[in-house]
Amino acid sequence: MATLDDLPIRDDLRGLSPYGAPQRHVRYALNVNENTHAVPEGVARHIVESLAAAVLTINRYPDREFTSLRESLAAYLGADIAPEQIWAANGSNEIIQQLLQAFGGPGRSVLGFPPTYSMHSIIASGTGTRWLTAERDAAYTLSPETVVAAIEREQPDLVFLCAPNNPTGTPVALETIEAAYAATPGILFVDEAYAEFMPPGTPSALTLLDGRERLVVSRTMSKAFAFAGARVGYLAADPAVADALRLVRLPYHLSALTQAAAVAALAHAPEMLAMVDDISRQRDRLLAELPVLGYRAFDSQANFVLFDGVADPAATFRALLERDILIRDVGLPGALRVTAGTEAETTAFLAALAELGPGGAPVGSAA
Ligand SMILES: Cc1ncc(COP(=O)(O)O)c(C=O)c1O
Repeated sequence: MATLDDLPIRDDLRGLSPYGAPQRHVRYALNVNENTHAVPEGVARHIVESLAAAVLTINRYPDREFTSLRESLAAYLGADIAPEQIWAANGSNEIIQQLLQAFGGPGRSVLGFPPTYSMHSIIASGTGTRWLTAERDAAYTLSPETVVAAIEREQPDLVFLCAPNNPTGTPVALETIEAAYAATPGILFVDEAYAEFMPPGTPSALTLLDGRERLVVSRTMSKAFAFAGARVGYLAADPAVADALRLVRLPYHLSALTQAAAVAALAHAPEMLAMVDDISRQRDRLLAELPVLGYRAFDSQANFVLFDGVADPAATFRALLERDILIRDVGLPGALRVTAGTEAETTAFLAALAELGPGGAPVGSAA
């Protein structure tokens, strides 16, 4: 069998690693920030009925403009967002890819603030967009001054902010987003994949869209909405942004089945989101209990918590896996990230971690 090196692959892709969160069958999967609660049965039944109806016309291409889905998403977001301001794709990853195809690409650059969502830089590579980075403030926060200084220094074509940030959970204040927008003549992209987990009343970047035609805010149905397997992400922006994405998207990129499933699920938004409060409570529990076990937990407004003070993250990761618990080693020194699951899952994780003793599994240990 050949290796990648034997193929005439693009020079700028040589030596890169693909996205690689381990996919393992474990009892407690707390590694990719899914909503670990099952879809309510009544909602599942309605989704299946909608899929059955869609299958009857599956010989035809789907609505290229996914009109019903855009209407449903706009209604879900509220906040005076019109359907023309919505664009959807197969996960917010595809949204990011289309955004970089339209506004990035060879000869253009995007500025990010690591540690941040790993796919931001991977999609930049895939689209030939140069990935520029700048440092964060203490405890992974981002002040307006820090962001503006980085934009002025790097002069990027796009700026990516992740609010709350993955993998740290750090919130980003609206002042930082406003300042970033004012400082760049390019596109400001705010990835709000975890927005529904922010404390009630926390303003979203959606509230800044009016009059800011270069601001793009993305959301996903993969997290709070418990729909990761269906692959539905979307953005809200000036309708001109959707026009730009129409130039790069593949025709009929959202299948009729995806559209039918998402519209049906959105009709049950309150039920689909019923567990968000519960998950946020488990996150707050992790934030309170991890320090009791001797770890530092970073402030999080998402459905996961990053904690450090781990003697050997790889050893602790393995030791938890042996106990059927999968969390995430995000490559930060002495740190691990865990998704807030159900109460039982969170209890199992905290109990297993306590059992490993101070600092987690001993350095270099197999378990
Ligand atoms: C910050 C952030 N953005 C986007 C995504 C991708 O979500 P989707 O499933 O919508 O592609 C993730 C997934 O983990 C994420 O953490």
